[in-house]
Amino acid sequence: MQTIIRRIAPAAWIALVLGPAAPVHAQNDDFTGVIKYRQGVMKAQAGHMAALAQLVRGRIPDPEGERMRMHARSIQALLHNLADGFPEGSDFGETRAEERIWEQWDKFEAASEKATNAAKALTAAVEKGDRKTITEAFKKLGKACKACHEDFRAEEE
Ligand code: HEC
Repeated sequence: MQTIIRRIAPAAWIALVLGPAAPVHAQNDDFTGVIKYRQGVMKAQAGHMAALAQLVRGRIPDPEGERMRMHARSIQALLHNLADGFPEGSDFGETRAEERIWEQWDKFEAASEKATNAAKALTAAVEKGDRKTITEAFKKLGKACKACHEDFRAEEE
């Protein structure tokens, strides 16, 4: 046994212990799910924003602000763990995520937090029921979405 161990070169031992390195394309394939997931979350947010736009303009009856509250809270919840949908290196494949996200992670998280706070402010404004405050809070939230996209989302091809 001793002699066999000595005969195997150190590099071969490392290969035996660690197993073969995963080919790069396999690693990218692993991100397919997370990329689709976060895009689904983003689309859900956009759906709530589109619905809110009609409510804020008073085009749909919402006397107690029940609908607006639901949409604002949903966006808040969707934004809450947004950063988890962006594991490092998931900027390859069918995605518009920029590499900058991981180079400037703190800034990315801050952008996410800013949007979450804007959603919270919108919920609070709905509770108060003042239309002007609601409209302003809604616009602010829209700006927070846009600000992150400008910094961290690639242009559409
Ligand atoms: C912290 C940054 C950040 C915030 C905040 C943010 N987004 Fe995004 N959003 C992104 C990134 C990055 C992508 C690209 C994701 C990808 O393609 O993998 C994206 C993609 C999208 C997409 C395209 C999804 C698709 O199908 O490809 C929509 C729509 C969208 N966001 C809407 C919103 C809305 C609405 C808000 C605010 C309520 C918002 N986003 C807040 C970073 C953000």
